[in-house]
Amino acid sequence: MKRHNIQFSLNNEKISIEVEPNDVLLDVLRNKLGIKSPKVGCDRGDCGTCTVLMNGRTVRSCLALAVEADGAEIVTLEGANTRKWTQKLQKKFHEKNAFQCGFCAPGVILSATELLEKNSKPDNHEIKEAIAGNLCRCTGYEPIVEAIAEAAKGK
Ligand code: FES
Ligand code: FES
Repeated sequence: MKRHNIQFSLNNEKISIEVEPNDVLLDVLRNKLGIKSPKVGCDRGDCGTCTVLMNGRTVRSCLALAVEADGAEIVTLEGANTRKWTQKLQKKFHEKNAFQCGFCAPGVILSATELLEKNSKPDNHEIKEAIAGNLCRCTGYEPIVEAIAEAAKGK
């Protein structure tokens, strides 16, 4: 198979890398570029643990081909730390002990970041919708929803 050279921005760093046409973005991030916050969960689009931001929108990196990242801006939790809402969310999640094992956390935080960047005053229904694609097997979601609501209100 013909390899492709792709170039993209990853957490504000320019990346140029050769990939196979069928390489999956999640594998390239984790195994070739050493970015470990997107987790391998279901590996088939169901759990959201592999979530990254592509051009400001959440995508499941286990379902995206690496070639789709060509020319894009990719942000993972490692690079989102400088974003205003990501910082507020992380602080609030920490204060409220909103996660247990933390496996879902990077995906949840990026989904909540996307929400608050578009809508800084979400109601609980909108919060639940925004994280509906991020499965959490530990918390029952209540502390996560509360933390996002409080981060939005700046409490
Ligand atoms: S690992 Fe991608 S959605 Fe589960
Ligand atoms: S805190 Fe364990 S999966 Fe969410």
